Amino acid sequence: MKEHQEGKAVFKANLSGKDKGPGKAKGVFYNPAMKMSRDLHIAFAKELEIKGKVLDGLAASGIRGIRLALEAGLNVEFCDTSQLSTKTIVENLKLNGIVAEVYNEPVEELLKRMKYDCIDIDPFGTPAPFLEAAIKGLNDNGILGVSATDTAVLCGAKPSICMKRYGARSMKWVSAKEIGVRILLAKIHSIASDIGKGIEPLLCYSEGHHLRVFIRLVKKNNTKLKWINLDMEVIDKEEKDAGGPLWVDKIINENLVPTDCEGKLGKFFQTLRNEANGPPGLYDINDIARNAKVGQTPKRDKIIKCLEELGYFASSSIFSPLGIKTNAPKTKRREAVKLAQSL
Ligand SMILES: C[S@@+](CC[C@H](N)C(=O)[O-])C[C@H]1O[C@@H](n2cnc3c(N)ncnc32)[C@H](O)[C@@H]1O
Repeated sequence: MKEHQEGKAVFKANLSGKDKGPGKAKGVFYNPAMKMSRDLHIAFAKELEIKGKVLDGLAASGIRGIRLALEAGLNVEFCDTSQLSTKTIVENLKLNGIVAEVYNEPVEELLKRMKYDCIDIDPFGTPAPFLEAAIKGLNDNGILGVSATDTAVLCGAKPSICMKRYGARSMKWVSAKEIGVRILLAKIHSIASDIGKGIEPLLCYSEGHHLRVFIRLVKKNNTKLKWINLDMEVIDKEEKDAGGPLWVDKIINENLVPTDCEGKLGKFFQTLRNEANGPPGLYDINDIARNAKVGQTPKRDKIIKCLEELGYFASSSIFSPLGIKTNAPKTKRREAVKLAQSL
């Protein structure tokens, strides 16, 4: 097993991910491509000033939890079903001078007897089988972080599996990933609702091959799941080709997006801040340009500027390089593209 460095942590693991097969490395899993996800998690955890006990529920080498302990000062415990992983986590904790509990059992079993203020669920593929245990294992106002790498399922490529797994109709096209995140939130909301609780999404996004949500478990509220049709209108009932049922309220709390990061992560956070208060759904800039009968599609930033000048909300989106988030009606979206063309 090789020794690696990520952030302030030094740790042993087997390389996995894109260059090393389909993710499930033999041995102790470590995917360097998820570094950005962990960097973001640490910046966000600092912003939230998390107190209490944290669980890295599917820890593999423990890199996520170790970094949360070292870089955000959190009190983290670790769990993994793999004996080799938990043995390695113990060694990795020593390497980094951390003392912490490590559990070698299914996280669903651990969470039957333990409660945490913050739980992270980072599985291979779908998080669906872990959601109920994770929600029930949270203390009041606890925070749940969930990764989903069953992106094809959540984002329109396998609609029947999405229906079976998440009870919702996914969507293709430009808003596929945002809708995928909203479907995952709807599933978490429904499970929380069954135990008399509500959820408050804090920060949700897609990056590379995965989707991620952070929510807070709150008192039950009367949030209703809805649908979004192909025109990005929120509708109360199912309709042909509409996505849902899904979470249609805010998915990013602007005030919790870290402001002190630079480089790629800083830009990522800026985009999230910009879109935080926009309506759900995205419009494809090429579709708007085609409908407006302008030749070449103007740059997205120019279209956004023109929509803003026309008095509408407009932003780019982390969910698609071709997407615009706006509350402008169809005629105004076309007008903005024409104006943008002459800039
Ligand atoms: C994608 S890896 C976790 C990656 C890790 N969080 C990181 O940032 O590098 C998934 C891990 O979950 C473990 N696992 C699978 N099923 C589990 C279960 N029911 N309970 C706890 N761990 C489980 C696997 O052994 C594997 O180490």
